[in-house]
Amino acid sequence: FGKNIIHYDSIHSTNSQAKLLCDEGLQEGSVILSEEQTSGRGRLGRNWSSPKGSSISMSVVLKPEINPVHVAKVTQISAAALSLAFEEMDIQCNIKWPNDIIINNKKVCGILTEMSSELNKINYVVMGIGINVNIDEEAFPDEIKSIATSLKIEYGKQISRKQIIASFLKYFENLYFEFINTGSAESSFEICRKRSLLLGKNIYVIRGSERTPATAVSIDENGELIVKYEDGTLSNLVSGEVSVRKS
Ligand code: BTN
Repeated sequence: FGKNIIHYDSIHSTNSQAKLLCDEGLQEGSVILSEEQTSGRGRLGRNWSSPKGSSISMSVVLKPEINPVHVAKVTQISAAALSLAFEEMDIQCNIKWPNDIIINNKKVCGILTEMSSELNKINYVVMGIGINVNIDEEAFPDEIKSIATSLKIEYGKQISRKQIIASFLKYFENLYFEFINTGSAESSFEICRKRSLLLGKNIYVIRGSERTPATAVSIDENGELIVKYEDGTLSNLVSGEVSVRKS
């Protein structure tokens, strides 16, 4: 991965651009990077802001020959690889299932996995990663200061974006091909469990405007989050949104 890197100074969204290029036949393993995104996208239709030069906006093109129902696993594999890359730089983080990397209870990185598929066949997967690297505290808008952070804020020093990207691609490639070759992403799930922000905690399962209290019980062999509701029923979440309950 990363042998074909396409680097932009400014682009609407590396994920959207990767999808356009995939429609023109871009090969697996290609990496799209941009110094700046003018309409970066987050999950659930949210915006994602990535200030010029101080963040990483990256999309990796994948063409896995798997059933589309398994694509959520790729997000978990990516989160595991990011945590290993951070750890290599002595940065301790937590993974908030399914797609956030958290340091000191604040979000430093998000993953947006998108796919084009027909029937049971995947045409391509675009895995987008946004990392707040060298962003200063005053550069965060007031409304997200309490929930977002950057590697530089947490560690008090500039961090090399190149090093993070290279290290992430190395770990991701290993874990991804282990999954493709064996059909199991268990070693990635094990990393996600070990670094999980949620397991054992009281959480809310969020659906639209509804928040249902539950406990995060485990991450199962499919990478799904098992939650226990207050009436004792257990449920598997494939993807979705949860938050930690303060009380
Ligand atoms: C989230 O936490 O909601 C996911 C954020 C994903 C942001 C990245 S930045 C690179 C790629 N291009 C986009 O437009 N979004 C993803």
